[in-house]
Amino acid sequence: MRRFLMCPPDHYGIEYEINPWMRREHPADHALAAAQWGNLYETLGEMPDTQIELVNPAPGLPDMVFTANAGLIKGDLFIASRFRYPERQGEEEHFERWFASHGFVVETLPDALKFEGAGDVLRAGDTWFGAYYYRSAPAALAAVSEILGEEVLPLRLVDERFYHLDTCFLPVGDSLVYYPGAFDQYSLTVIRGMFPDAIEVTPEEVATFACNSVVIGEWVLMNTGAPRLCAALAARGLSCVTTELSEFLKAGGAAKCLTLAL
Ligand code: ARG
Repeated sequence: MRRFLMCPPDHYGIEYEINPWMRREHPADHALAAAQWGNLYETLGEMPDTQIELVNPAPGLPDMVFTANAGLIKGDLFIASRFRYPERQGEEEHFERWFASHGFVVETLPDALKFEGAGDVLRAGDTWFGAYYYRSAPAALAAVSEILGEEVLPLRLVDERFYHLDTCFLPVGDSLVYYPGAFDQYSLTVIRGMFPDAIEVTPEEVATFACNSVVIGEWVLMNTGAPRLCAALAARGLSCVTTELSEFLKAGGAAKCLTLAL
C-alpha cells in the first residue's frame, strides 16, 4: 500500500505573502479550491494500492493543506519541519502531534535550523538531495543527514519562484525531471553528472508546477498545462494524469505539495 497524508482545505486561503506567487489581492476561490482538492483526493485515491490519511485542518493556518512541508519521512521516522516564516510555524505542533499519535518516531531540530521537510529533501535514484537558500538552511540539511545516517547532497536554489526543491525537481523512477533555471551552476553540474538522461522542463511548463507531481509507478499526477513534459514522459512509458489545481498555484503549490508520501 502507498499511503499519503493530505489536509482538507477548510481554512485554505491567501492570507499573507511568503513567496512570489502569493498576492492577497489575488485570492483563492474557496469553493473552487475545495472542489479541486476533492478531485485530487479522488484521483489519488483511485491510483493502484493507494490509501489516503487525513490530518485535521486548523484555523489560522491556511497553508496547512501543503502537507509535504510537515516534515521528512523515512520508514517510521518523522523529522519535523522548522518553518522559515512565522506565518507557518503554528503548523509544527499539529503535524508533530499527528505523527506521534500514528506510530512514527518524531525527531525535531532546534528552532534555529530552518527546514521544510519533503518540500526540500527528496530521494532521487538512491541519493537524498536537499535544497537550501529560500526555506531550508544548509546547517539543517547537515542535521537531517546526521539523523538519517545518510548523505544529503545540497543543491542551491536561485530563482525565488522555485523556493522549494519539489517545485523544480521531480524524481521519476531512476531518473529525474527538473528545471535548470532553478539551480546554481555547481548544483547543475552535480545533477547533470548524476542524471545524464534527465528531462529538462521549459520555463513555460515549470510555471504550471509540472515538477510538483506525484509519481505512482508509471503514473504522474499533476496540474494541467504541461503537454511537452507529458509527451517526454510518454516516450519513457509514463502517463500523465492531470487535474486542475489553479487555486493552489495562487499559494505557490500543486499536486505534490498537497500530499505527503508516508
Ligand atoms: N504557500 C506555501 C508556502 O509558501 C506553499 C507551499 C508549497 N509547498 C511545497 N512543498 N512546494 O510555504
